[in-house]
Amino acid sequence: MADIASKKRKRASKTPELLRGFRDVIQEEAPYWQHVQASATDLLLDYSYSEIQLPILEATSLFKRTIGEHTDIVSKEMFTFEDQGGDSITLRPELTAGMVRAYIEHGMFNRPQPVKMYSIGPAFRYERPQAGRYRQFNQLSVELFGDAQPVADAEVIFISYLLCKQLGLDVTIHINSLGSSESREDYVQLLKEYIKPKRSLLCEDCKKRITKNPLRLLDCKEEACRALFIQAPLLVDNLDDESKKHFVAVLEHLDESEVPYELDPYIVRGLDYYNRTAFEIVASVTNDAVEGEEATVTNLIVGGGGRYDGLVEILGGRNTPAIGMAFGLERLVSAFKKTKSGISSEKKPQVFLAQLGEEAAKHAFTLFETLRSNNIRVRANFGKTGLKPQLELADKLGVVYTVILGQKELLDQTVIIRDMENGIQEVVDLTKIVDEIKKRLKKGR
Ligand code: HAM
Repeated sequence: MADIASKKRKRASKTPELLRGFRDVIQEEAPYWQHVQASATDLLLDYSYSEIQLPILEATSLFKRTIGEHTDIVSKEMFTFEDQGGDSITLRPELTAGMVRAYIEHGMFNRPQPVKMYSIGPAFRYERPQAGRYRQFNQLSVELFGDAQPVADAEVIFISYLLCKQLGLDVTIHINSLGSSESREDYVQLLKEYIKPKRSLLCEDCKKRITKNPLRLLDCKEEACRALFIQAPLLVDNLDDESKKHFVAVLEHLDESEVPYELDPYIVRGLDYYNRTAFEIVASVTNDAVEGEEATVTNLIVGGGGRYDGLVEILGGRNTPAIGMAFGLERLVSAFKKTKSGISSEKKPQVFLAQLGEEAAKHAFTLFETLRSNNIRVRANFGKTGLKPQLELADKLGVVYTVILGQKELLDQTVIIRDMENGIQEVVDLTKIVDEIKKRLKKGR
């Protein structure tokens, strides 16, 4: 009895752990996230995409009606629950549905078209966690509403490619056309006829897909199923004329802008709302070599998207063509880290402020703020008093100068500037500290 009680107590006092499939981005990793997000938003603003911020919780029906009832996302992976008022709500599994809702809700069809937006934030899917797959992950979703022309598809793909290139990633766009919903229906019949005699050889999931979501048969990851579909009729060979023309024009744009792409007839995407162009961005990532072995290269799908011309109307808006894509930020950041491009040294601290003694400590905030507000990247540890630990810290941070404010200096209204490379120290007037530091930084030391 006593044993059980003590076990219970132990369990109760144990620090609760992260949920499976969830992760923290701790301080060492955050600069990579900031760099990737800043690169993305700078680029998107240049191409006239504005930010929209959306709630994480939405009505469950929003996702059922857009992503599709029979998709894996809606049928198996949503975090859905009833709120206190008895309404069914869902943690968004992606951002596009919310963006379409917002486009309609805010009457954005009355604005000059196209409306170009991006949004960044968490999405939730109850998937089996593994490397690069989480239950909470972050997406950067980029959407262009109100332009049916192939150039709009090409623009979204081009910008996605540019961002990857800017981050030093080696990527290829895998692209396909899903045609119109009518041509797809005809194709699905062909596919079903093809697979009927082979049904018993399919995996259990694919057997269900035949009736519920036949197109998804094509991107089953099971080897046995894949082998069966090598000979299958292809959607891209059964497109309606308009979709064919559209697809060729998109590819011509990509050729002209030198975007590397591969035709991939098996891309169908895991969401039901697409028509015509569908694509995925595949990064070739070099993993660190393990001792005695060569470095390996793996393919990572960092993003995906496509055209979804019917979606605004499905949710009750006007007939509005649209195209978009989303990056998975965990994957983009991880691929970026592996490029070893590093983060620009621009943001590295330049000066450390060390204070000695009680009086100096009281003045330290003011001096720190004088330096900071004059655009000098300064760091300090206001709780430390000894010189040695502060110089060690300054060294670790890699600053160029340490400004030392001591009791004597405070009385004289001076400070010491210590060159961290050679240890040479100079006494300067407290009132001239900003100019003195700037002068030295400009000289290169
Ligand atoms: P998606 O392909 O489902 O498309 O997701 C886009 C990207 O999010 C994926 O390529 C992947 O990088 C990342 N991602 C998806 N699931 C996970 C996960 N469990 N863990 C980590 N990363 C993940 C969409 O969501 C569409 N809304 C894209 C879109 C925008 N289509 C048109 N506009």
